[in-house]
Amino acid sequence: MTRTGLFQKKINIGGFQTANNVFMAPLAGYTDAPFRNMVRRLGAGLTVTEMVSCKGLVYGSEKTEELLSIGKQESPSSAQIFGREPDIMRRAVELPALSKFDIIDVNMGCPVPKLVKNGEGSALLKEPLLAERIVKELTKTGKTITVKMRIGLTENAYVTQEFAKRMEGAGAAMITVHGRVREAYYSGEPNYKEIASAVNAVTVPVIANGGIFSVEEGEKMLTETGAAGIMLARGAMFNPRLFCDFTATPRPDFASIIQAQLDEIAAVYPDHRFAAINFRKQFVAYLHGVRGGKRIKDAVFAAEDLQTLKALASEVCWD
Ligand SMILES: Cc1cc2nc3c(=O)[nH]c(=O)nc-3n(C[C@H](O)[C@H](O)[C@H](O)COP(=O)(O)O)c2cc1C
Repeated sequence: MTRTGLFQKKINIGGFQTANNVFMAPLAGYTDAPFRNMVRRLGAGLTVTEMVSCKGLVYGSEKTEELLSIGKQESPSSAQIFGREPDIMRRAVELPALSKFDIIDVNMGCPVPKLVKNGEGSALLKEPLLAERIVKELTKTGKTITVKMRIGLTENAYVTQEFAKRMEGAGAAMITVHGRVREAYYSGEPNYKEIASAVNAVTVPVIANGGIFSVEEGEKMLTETGAAGIMLARGAMFNPRLFCDFTATPRPDFASIIQAQLDEIAAVYPDHRFAAINFRKQFVAYLHGVRGGKRIKDAVFAAEDLQTLKALASEVCWD
């Protein structure tokens, strides 16, 4: 199959159809609505919010406005949640902030101690019965439920196949498998064999994630695992135009892409100074691998307003 053919498959997720099978991963601190709109325009088949706390939503401490706004380009829309109490999670999904989304994705892969010590995120991999109850409870809301998991907590204690089967049995309409264990965090090669074991165990679409920074790595991921699609994370965080390469469309000028993103940020965030400071790390991520990036990086970290960042975007030689 041609390269374009491989990445033009629409995926059916509980009745919703995606534009193609190259998805954008949830990235805490990065994938807000302006970012998600931008990557959709560049060709992402599906986008999802960063993870939000169900407890935070139910008890009112989570700032939902900016975290849970749906981008204009997002259809179907998907929000990611984390938690461990099935009842609280169902209540969260029934709140207007979440019920407006088409798809709810459950985080069962986050490795950070803040979540894991509460038995959330990847800690659920060692509690398959609870994870199953969570998905079953969430399906009662009538929403399409998906799961994002890792292959286990430690090397050679993989849970992939068994866990994926349980999630499908509980009602998950799609399963994303990040092909690393919790203890590896984000380093090392993804384990293709483990991802393939999930593909072979379930009939719902499996999306493969981990270590895709180029079209070649995406092709390798698809062919080695047999997954229905792939999910880009840091690859697109550094270089959102990677989506153009996957969909074989010409790369637009990056300075104008960033400037359009900044215009959207100005429209979404009422506090522009906060928004500018918040955007700095994203700008720096875009400088990854850019020649002469160091000088711009210092200027980016000194910037406190969106206009300065817009001007800096045109100073960089992006190609
Ligand atoms: C800064 C950062 C934030 C992340 N936030 C989330 C998140 O909110 N939810 C989630 O499921 N995964 C999150 N992840 C994990 C990614 O979605 C992805 O699974 C992981 O980075 C592996 O893909 P990669 O090797 O292509 O980067 C995050 C990763 C990074 C680097």
